[in-house]
Amino acid sequence: ASSPALARAEGLIREIPDYPQPGILFRDITPLLADAEALRATSEALIAPFAGQFDVIAGIEARGFLLASAAAIVAGTGMVPVRKAGKLPQPAVTIDYALEYGTATIEMHADLEPGTRVLVIDDVLATGGTVAATLEMLEHLGYPVCGTSVLFEIEGLGGREKVDDHPLHTVFRND
Ligand code: PRP
Repeated sequence: ASSPALARAEGLIREIPDYPQPGILFRDITPLLADAEALRATSEALIAPFAGQFDVIAGIEARGFLLASAAAIVAGTGMVPVRKAGKLPQPAVTIDYALEYGTATIEMHADLEPGTRVLVIDDVLATGGTVAATLEMLEHLGYPVCGTSVLFEIEGLGGREKVDDHPLHTVFRND
């Protein structure tokens, strides 16, 4: 990490073995979220490489919402929720995708002004399925995407390769 505050923030990500399934090492960011300095430092780090390149942040349910909202306030933009199926009153697009554990469906509204530039934020990049589906959805809707910013990259699962048709920034990784 490139600052003392970020180094502290990284130390606040808790590793939970075998959750939610055997063999999965879950990264629990709730201690980081609860810490004012860590929340601010990570919000700034998520948006820094994309400064001036986006008009809104798309946050992916559920933990991505928390980071996207905090980052949006720091950036001075709004945020758009990319939701799990069945939670939005007027979804414009629905996409099914494979997850590290199980499958999922995401949806979003499409009421942004045409040409609104989007930064995608999520908490963890594992297989990349979630971010790839989000990028596909935004492309389908015609919104320009400046890139993706993720708090924690789990390397070795092919996630980076799956989403690197757009710029990808990850704040922490398991190296
Ligand atoms: C987790 C995480 C990412 C996704 C990463 O979400 O928050 O969104 O998995 O995995 P991938 O790169 O293999 O797609 P989860 O489905 O656990 O949802 P939650 O945030 O609602 O807990």
